[in-house]
Amino acid sequence: MAIKSYVGALLLLLSFSSTINAQVFQIENYSANGGGIPDITQSFLGAWKKACASPTRAKVFIPGGTFALSEVVLEGPCKSHVEFNIHGTLQAPADPSRFRTDGWVVFQHIDGLTLLGGTFDGQGRIAWAQNDCNKNQNCRTLPTNLRFNFVSNAIVHDVTTLDSKNFHVNVLGCNNLTFQHFHVNAPGNSINTDGIHIGRSLGVNILDTDIKTGDDCVSLGDGSRQITVKGVTCGPGHGISIGSLGRYDNEEPVSGVFVTNCTITGAQNGVRIKTWPASKIGIATDMHFEDIQMNNVANPVLIDQGYCPWNQCQAEIPSLVKISNVSFKRIRGTSASKVAVKIACSKRIPCENVEIADINLVYRGPDGPATSECSNVSPLISGVQNPPACAKPVS
Ligand SMILES: *[C@@H]1O[C@H](CO)[C@@H](O)[C@H](O)[C@H]1NC(C)=O
Ligand SMILES: *[C@@H]1O[C@H](CO)[C@@H](O)[C@H](O)[C@H]1NC(C)=O
Ligand SMILES: *[C@@H]1O[C@H](CO)[C@@H](O)[C@H](O)[C@H]1NC(C)=O
Ligand SMILES: *[C@@H]1O[C@H](CO)[C@@H](O)[C@H](O)[C@H]1NC(C)=O
Repeated sequence: MAIKSYVGALLLLLSFSSTINAQVFQIENYSANGGGIPDITQSFLGAWKKACASPTRAKVFIPGGTFALSEVVLEGPCKSHVEFNIHGTLQAPADPSRFRTDGWVVFQHIDGLTLLGGTFDGQGRIAWAQNDCNKNQNCRTLPTNLRFNFVSNAIVHDVTTLDSKNFHVNVLGCNNLTFQHFHVNAPGNSINTDGIHIGRSLGVNILDTDIKTGDDCVSLGDGSRQITVKGVTCGPGHGISIGSLGRYDNEEPVSGVFVTNCTITGAQNGVRIKTWPASKIGIATDMHFEDIQMNNVANPVLIDQGYCPWNQCQAEIPSLVKISNVSFKRIRGTSASKVAVKIACSKRIPCENVEIADINLVYRGPDGPATSECSNVSPLISGVQNPPACAKPVS
């Protein structure tokens, strides 16, 4: 099998190198691993080293087939743009104790990167069963499938991440990174498997992407700036979230978030902004959610400044994260709970400049119809409002 795919890969390699002007580094000499699937860890790192040192645009080519890959750090800086062209499936060790760090495949300090194709299978089932982070503050941080640390000018497209042990993708300190035709797939009950988490990064785009997972489809942490989420389908999952914010000292502002043309189906939340009570000081501004289809979503539109997932906070002390310049426009579909719109802002620092326009959310449960509840906010309301906007204070 391995031999066959290797030959196929060589043929492909010839056709690729004749059309694309890049030097190609093929993984080679992987061992059959005592009859199991071949382990390419060493040759993957070897090909990366050569590609990264190439003075002209370079390509790492991984043929079709299924390969075992242990924890790897692909460390830059590189001499030129590097492209990964992956045809096969890469499998992580299933046993979390085989990992020394919190990342499986880590791209780090790289300017100019393309990641094209392939499936990253985190084999998370054993890890999810062991995860006790909801009770144990000192629980071990499980590995994220793909980490992008301080990567700039990068594009990731037609890539699938499967069954990560923890977040599927973590983006930190990046500048100009685009995910397109990206796929995230894990069961709805898998623990803490956020799709794409972004923090302290500028100019990240998530486009035409499909996310099915057990936690937030997209989550934006502090310091997320100029983020575009467009044409994303989400569900199962916990929706598209900004936050949670305000838990730690020295969090950076969130600003410039554009979530448009997304479809959220069967998720716990739709679009939300969440901040902790009794929080540190913070800022979140210029956040826009427009043209969103909700299908049977439990909390379609939500600002929650009293976010306290395991009831271990001083809920009565208001959040100090200031939320401003937010719009929710053209949001339609069905709610799976009565409160279709909930804007619960901080008593200490009310939300400012919130606009709610053209909302049409239907709830068909026995305790219906849908309601809209608001506190500590005076939104600008226009267009269709079903349910009637801010008819009640937050209960
Ligand atoms: C792979 O194996 C071939 C044949 O044994 C050898 O010539 C070549 O140098 C090896 N390549 C690497 C990168 O080890
Ligand atoms: C962003 O990165 C992409 C991919 O490398 C590149 O083509 C594009 O020119 C970059 N954009 C800017 C503004 O630098
Ligand atoms: C909206 O997203 C869908 C996929 O979810 C895509 O097919 C459609 O072209 C997008 N429309 C616009 C106007 O971007
Ligand atoms: C919010 O928007 C207003 C009007 O567009 C602008 O003047 C203000 O600077 C914005 N606030 C922040 C914190 O960006």
